[in-house]
Amino acid sequence: MTTLRQLAVETLTHMVEGGQERLAVDDEARGILRQWMLDARKGTPAAPVEEVSPAPRAEQPEMSVEEKLDFLRRKAADWKPARRLGTLREKMVFAVGNPHARLMLVGEAPGYEEERQGEPFVGPAGQLLTRILGTMGLQRSDVYISNVCKFRPSMGENQGTANRAPSPEELAACLPLIMAEIRAIQPACIVCLGGSSAKGLLGAQQGVSALRGQWFACQGVPVRVTYHPSYLLRNEARSARRSVWEDMLEVMQRLGMPVSEKQQNYFR
Ligand code: URA
Repeated sequence: MTTLRQLAVETLTHMVEGGQERLAVDDEARGILRQWMLDARKGTPAAPVEEVSPAPRAEQPEMSVEEKLDFLRRKAADWKPARRLGTLREKMVFAVGNPHARLMLVGEAPGYEEERQGEPFVGPAGQLLTRILGTMGLQRSDVYISNVCKFRPSMGENQGTANRAPSPEELAACLPLIMAEIRAIQPACIVCLGGSSAKGLLGAQQGVSALRGQWFACQGVPVRVTYHPSYLLRNEARSARRSVWEDMLEVMQRLGMPVSEKQQNYFR
């Protein structure tokens, strides 16, 4: 049985190995960590709070990136922490794109169309994302596109085409999968599309507006947070689109991509 303490130590070890030196924790987490430290000093074994699945082990150095992703895809299809919740739908939607991409985009969870087609970001928000990538001079096949939550959150029997954001429990349950994908891909840069993604990858509690305009790190990989394309579809304001474009220009510069004058002045 893996305890929460073991899982936390494993996750923190990965973060440190990935070059992350600082971690923001809230009061509750600080209290738990302090208790674990005191227990460890006294030699008290970690209480098996509840069984949690260990982070999927796709890290064997002899495996290719493709093999690691294939391993993770199969793990995700029957991912017990998500299944156990009973609040996520059956079909698993993994990721799409180039396993050797330098840019990784991470969204929230599949919606109706993604579940139907089995591919992330293929509905209206996905089509807008594809257009944004095109404006950056990129195709979907140049980047790696995934979600923090691999299952469409359920809204009961009469859900139809409606979608909802994943709960904190649903995000937490799926988090080891996206963390393992990041370790497998080792992108040069990650873009969090929307607040759920930032909550998952960075543990951020603030909204996107407060998180934009700065670099964060997830397992040592630079992360930029921007608005979710579905927010742009709901909010026609030119300023929202311009904000996303400014974030993408920062990402292009970080990746050393050439930025044309036309791209630079796109929203001016
Ligand atoms: N929204 C997301 O966050 N992810 C998808 O795959 C589709 C819509």
